[in-house]
Amino acid sequence: MKLVERVAQLRAERPSWGRAGLVPTMGYLHEGHLSLLRAARDANDTVVMSLFVNPTQFGPREDLAAYPRDIPRDLYLASNAGVDVVFMPDADEVYPAGFDTWVEPGALAVRWEGERRPNHFRGVATVVLKLFQMVRPERAYFGEKDYQQLKVVSKMVEDFNLPIEIVACPTVRESDGLALSSRNAYLSDDGRRGAANLSRALFHAQRLAFDGERDVPQLLAETHAILAEEPSLQVDYLAVVDPASLEPLDELRESARIIAAAFCEGVRLIDNAPIEGPPTT
Ligand code: PAF
Repeated sequence: MKLVERVAQLRAERPSWGRAGLVPTMGYLHEGHLSLLRAARDANDTVVMSLFVNPTQFGPREDLAAYPRDIPRDLYLASNAGVDVVFMPDADEVYPAGFDTWVEPGALAVRWEGERRPNHFRGVATVVLKLFQMVRPERAYFGEKDYQQLKVVSKMVEDFNLPIEIVACPTVRESDGLALSSRNAYLSDDGRRGAANLSRALFHAQRLAFDGERDVPQLLAETHAILAEEPSLQVDYLAVVDPASLEPLDELRESARIIAAAFCEGVRLIDNAPIEGPPTT
């Protein structure tokens, strides 16, 4: 496994890679990242993992300096997962002095995370476009856990005619349902147990829809009731949305997505799940 810190070195080596799959990460790898790396390993000649804690996607009140980091462990896990190249630039390599051009995502970035975290998706889209330009992958891998991010990045690829296939990979969960996230590291053991109630509530909504509930306010009321059973969780938002536009729905259609954000011990957790109606016979 090769460690690359400079764009010039990526450029020099790119011609020898064949089909390249990029897994963009901010490090502190967990099983969710490893599932993306495995998917990339299965489908590409060369797997590139970027490891860069992108400052422009953090808000002024979000603690960039405290973001969990463990580079030796990340490199060990990446190497075991069959990564060929780790691209680990420093901030000046990505944002040199005078950097002043941004990707401004549209309607998909306005609500939900975009509303709570102004400029977050501008930072994500900008760094992802830069990583795409630097690495020039044929495919790039993103988790469904960050569903709005996946949608924003896919729309950017479509709108800018980028010759890259975005591969969406399912959320990886603990055995109790908690979606894996680097931020789970901030939770105490009790907090972690309480946080699992978020996915429990979403799965309950999934079941209600599967059993025939079509009325979204009713579905949300029942989901809120489950969430309220866990006092350590404070709901930030809970909504049933159109899976393509992320606009809220009042009535369930063929397919939808339930999305949620909640605080647990001061840590902001997000999760989502597909919602489908009962099978048609
Ligand atoms: O999902 C993440 O870890 C980050 O938002 C990403 C895609 C690596 C961009 O910094």
